[in-house]
This record gives sequence, C-alpha cells and structure tokens, in this order.
Amino acid sequence: MQTVRSSEELARARAEIEGTLALVTTMGALHAGHMALVEEARRRADRVAATIFVNPKQFGANEDFGSYPRRETEDGRMLEEAGCDLLWIPAVADIYPEGFSTSIHVAGLSERWEGEARPGHFDGVATVVARLLLSVRPDVALFGEKDFQQLAVIRRMVADLGVPVEIAAVPTVREADGLALSSRNAYLSDDERRRAVALPNALEEARKSILDGAPVSQVLQRAKQQLVDLGFLRIDYLALVDAATLEPVDAPAGEMRLIAAAVIGSTRLIDNLPV
Ligand code: PAF
Repeated sequence: MQTVRSSEELARARAEIEGTLALVTTMGALHAGHMALVEEARRRADRVAATIFVNPKQFGANEDFGSYPRRETEDGRMLEEAGCDLLWIPAVADIYPEGFSTSIHVAGLSERWEGEARPGHFDGVATVVARLLLSVRPDVALFGEKDFQQLAVIRRMVADLGVPVEIAAVPTVREADGLALSSRNAYLSDDERRRAVALPNALEEARKSILDGAPVSQVLQRAKQQLVDLGFLRIDYLALVDAATLEPVDAPAGEMRLIAAAVIGSTRLIDNLPV
C-alpha cells in the first residue's frame, strides 16, 4: 500500500492507477465497519484507495474534534492487511488551503434529525466529501448505512453537482449483542457499553411492532421510554421515516427506516434499521 500526504503526491499516485478505483473515506479510528467498506470496495473495483482525515468542518464548537481518536499507524496497518492500495492522509491545509471559502449545503435533507441536533454538520460532510471525491476521482465510493442520513446527503450532493462517481451503500456492522460499530463506542464506560445495546434492541422491537400493525406514534413513544428507563440521558430523535426523503411517516408505507440518536453518559450514539 502506498501512503501519500500532500495533494501533489496524491495526484502523482492517482495518475499511475490503472483500471477502476474504489474509494473509502474515513476519519480513522478504524474498526470492522470500515473494513467491510474496504472489502466491498475490493469486490467493486480493480484498486482501492482510502482517506483518513478528521474533518474539522463537520464538528460543532462543543463537539469532540480535539479528542476524536487518532490512530494513524494502526489504521494504516489495518488498511494494508485489508488489501487497500493507496492511502491518502491529507493535512487540514491540503483540504482547506488559505482562502478556502466554499461550503456545500444540501437543503432539506441536511436540515432534519442529525442536522437539527448538529447544525452545520452536513455542510461540513458534503463539502469534504466533494473535495475528496474530486481529488481522488474514484469510479465508486462506499459509505456505511450506519450514517444513513449522511449517505442520503452525499447521494443528493453527488447527483445535484454531477460528480462522476457511483455511491454504494454497505450495511451496518454490529457487535455480537447488536450494538452498531462506531469509533465513538470507545468513549463508553463498561457499564454504558452494557446498557448501550438498549438502542438497537429498542429499534428492533419497534420495527416488529410496526410490521405487526401497532400505531406508529405509540410504538415510537414506547421505544423512547425504554431508552430512558435503561439509562439514556437524552433522546435527540427516534423516528420512522421514508427511506428516500427522510420525511417522518405516521403510517407504514413503502421503504421506511427507523432512525435514532440518543445520549448515554457523555456519548451520543446513532443507529437505524430498515423497515
Ligand atoms: O463517515 C465519516 O467517517 C465521515 O463523515 C466522512 C464521510 C469520512 C467525511 O468526513
């Protein structure tokens, strides 16, 4: 695996790649969820590139940009073992050079749910993903369904701007007890980790009840109460939404998604399930 840092080095390395290229963008602190993206990337293209960039523009002022786990050496080893061919680890000044003034806002989709809880977050995501896609120029880029709204925002941005890349979704990877893998799980204490499984459990129970025909508002209320009873301190949202528009639905129809964000201890977890 070749590791490059500056945009110039990336451009040279990119020019030497023959055949199709798949891209996995990450903020590092890699886990099996990222490795599933690399695996799928290998199935879809001749060569695989990955990026590690903790993007300051997608963190709010009181969020964990400073303490976000950074494990470059271990991440590099994992990517190499997984069969990644090219790793780009840009510096902030490479992605946002002096004078950088552009911000991409995907109206509507960006404004609900995560967007409401984390103002500006998706502008940061859309801007950096556009920047990474335009620099690496992959044929396909892979994103996890764990960040379901992020995936929808990126699809919209790529379609609207005509970025010549296919966006592919990869299902969420879970621990044996059902907790979705996330770099932020590292913040959980042992006790919080044991109780965190209430989130996927509440979503799964809600999914079954909705499919059994229970009234959606009652199901969502019960799921929220379950999380509070099991020690979650705050629920930012727990909703049934249309899988394409992310608009809330109050009666089951078509492809839907149950989405949730909730805080346990000082850690904010997100998860979602198809319905
Ligand atoms: O999902 C992530 O890790 C990040 O939001 C992404 C897509 C790499 C953009 O910084």
